[in-house]
Amino acid sequence: MKLSGKVAIVTGGSRGIGFATAKIFAENGANVVITAKDSKRLENAVNEIPNSVGITADIRNENDVKKVVEQTVKKFGKLDILINNAGIFPKIKQLHEIEEFEWNEVLDVNLTGQFRFTKVAIPYLKKTSGSIVNISSDAGLKAYQGFNADAYSASKAGMIILTKCWALEYAKDKIRVNCICPGVVDTDMTKPFLKTEKDRDFMNNEHPLGRIGQPDEVAKAILYFVSDDAAWTTGAILTVDGGESIK
Ligand SMILES: NC(=O)c1ccc[n+]([C@@H]2O[C@H](COP(=O)([O-])OP(=O)(O)OC[C@H]3O[C@@H](n4cnc5c(N)ncnc54)[C@H](OP(=O)(O)O)[C@@H]3O)[C@@H](O)[C@H]2O)c1
Repeated sequence: MKLSGKVAIVTGGSRGIGFATAKIFAENGANVVITAKDSKRLENAVNEIPNSVGITADIRNENDVKKVVEQTVKKFGKLDILINNAGIFPKIKQLHEIEEFEWNEVLDVNLTGQFRFTKVAIPYLKKTSGSIVNISSDAGLKAYQGFNADAYSASKAGMIILTKCWALEYAKDKIRVNCICPGVVDTDMTKPFLKTEKDRDFMNNEHPLGRIGQPDEVAKAILYFVSDDAAWTTGAILTVDGGESIK
């Protein structure tokens, strides 16, 4: 029980990495608020996670974001942990083929959305000497041949530098800010790239450890960052990627 008495918000907690994170937090004693925009998927997730509360919210909407943080504090009296996890992946296209609205949507969800949540959460995290984990990606660390998801890569690189900025900015308030860069993880987001056995073999081989990751393998690293085990760690960027980024 690493998180007894803690109150956490996990954005995009209805499925994938966010769901696995909310689950492991609840198993470790936290009260968890999970958010997503699809209320049905959110309800299903809440039913599977004890001690969880779901609040439907679109991360692109400032009022929705305020509602999540304010309702969390109203219900549980405080906020200790924010996991900036909600994200989308665009259609694969080369830069010159991307429409500006497509670019803007990815940045709005994956980067500005994290700014919105963090901005509203900070005053409460100051009171608890809380902790933030940003979910970036290997795509924020380096370019990959044929990856062609520039808005996504830009948003994820943005989260890496913002992790360092926020860690420095709020260290005096004892708020720790860390970041995880996953490789390819088996979730709805990566389903389009894992349709056939051949796709899966290719993706497995992209990772030096010989396989893609599972959501709970990322969740365990997130748990480490928010627990007291990482009490002296802030501004850290941790790859959890089967070695993909070291090639
Ligand atoms: N899977 C990977 O291989 C991988 C690798 C590196 C990094 N990541 C990052 O890890 C994070 C989680 O990815 P995942 O694979 O678990 O994704 P996923 O299975 O597609 O789940 C995405 C989550 O984000 C939520 N979300 C999307 N748009 C939203 C919006 N506008 N407002 C509120 N919530 C929204 C979704 O809610 P709804 O169901 O309501 O849409 C869902 O709960 C993302 O930031 C992703 O970029 C994933």
